Amino acid sequence: MVCRAGKFDEELMKTARTIASPGRGILAMDESNATVGKRLDSIGLENSEANRQAYREMLVSTKGLGQYISGAILFEETLYQSGSNGKRMTDMLVENGIVPGIKVDKGLAPLANSNNEQWAMGLDGLDKRCAEYHKAGARFAKWRSVVSIPNGPSPIAVRETAYGLARYAAICQNNGLVPIVEPEILLDGDHDINRCLAVFEDVWAETFKYLADNKVLFEGILLKPSMVTPGAESPARATPQQVAEMTLIGLKRRVPPAVPGIMFLSGGQSELEATLNLQEMNRQPNPWHVSFSYARALQNTVLKTWQGKPENVPKAQEALLKRAKANSDAQRGQYDP
Ligand code: 13P
Repeated sequence: MVCRAGKFDEELMKTARTIASPGRGILAMDESNATVGKRLDSIGLENSEANRQAYREMLVSTKGLGQYISGAILFEETLYQSGSNGKRMTDMLVENGIVPGIKVDKGLAPLANSNNEQWAMGLDGLDKRCAEYHKAGARFAKWRSVVSIPNGPSPIAVRETAYGLARYAAICQNNGLVPIVEPEILLDGDHDINRCLAVFEDVWAETFKYLADNKVLFEGILLKPSMVTPGAESPARATPQQVAEMTLIGLKRRVPPAVPGIMFLSGGQSELEATLNLQEMNRQPNPWHVSFSYARALQNTVLKTWQGKPENVPKAQEALLKRAKANSDAQRGQYDP
């Protein structure tokens, strides 16, 4: 029994549990037009709607993907788009047993009077947009805020990230969308792993305070944290065992067990590194479903294999299944490299 009387509470808890189901995680394919443009450029393709459609159709139509992937986060364009066969992308996902989700933040902007930090835009009109996204078939949402360690983080940047996420989460839940709460602590910097853990704890402490203040139902959210690692420019490297140990220390100190799923982002880690770190996390006892919500760590090889050529689609889909299965095995603690 949950003491809250939100109209969508039962649906939210069911959706969250479905996404956080054993051996499955999230395919993040919600790159903004600017970001997907960079990915397409890396294989010499123009950032046109037709190329974005062809690429994303290839991803969502991969047969058997639902065995490893429980949810896919879409950019707004994809939510309303059909594939070349006229079938809606969301229908292809649902046929594959995958829950469609939607990125709802409107990107980052400079945070005035901070240490050159950023805040996430998109609360204006969010209530109405969420109602429309739910009608269009989305059942969960994502909002990404970033925290930079080398730039501070300043107290106002942490507060803005935490409060923005809490307002977004409350609005999503009131419209039947499970909010993914994602304060991404960027990998950039030459700090050590202890500094990363300290910032991780500060950010999640404030985030949960504001989630509680805003009466967000914890059983109906999913988290998307970054892992606790040394900064990308630090000479010190951490083993998967150290990353898992430090990340689980941070999570256990800050995240209530009522939260059904922790779905990590890959944040620029290599495909193998992201899988090995996830595997280690699942080899140590924890009270959650600890899984993945990777974009780059699921798509890098897929994109390189595809090269924009229809004849490469089967091989690219095979590469996607291979990465998805590896992370599914890691979710169960059974990945064998
Ligand atoms: P990466 O896994 O590439 O970090 O992307 C996940 C994501 O959706 C970032 O918001």
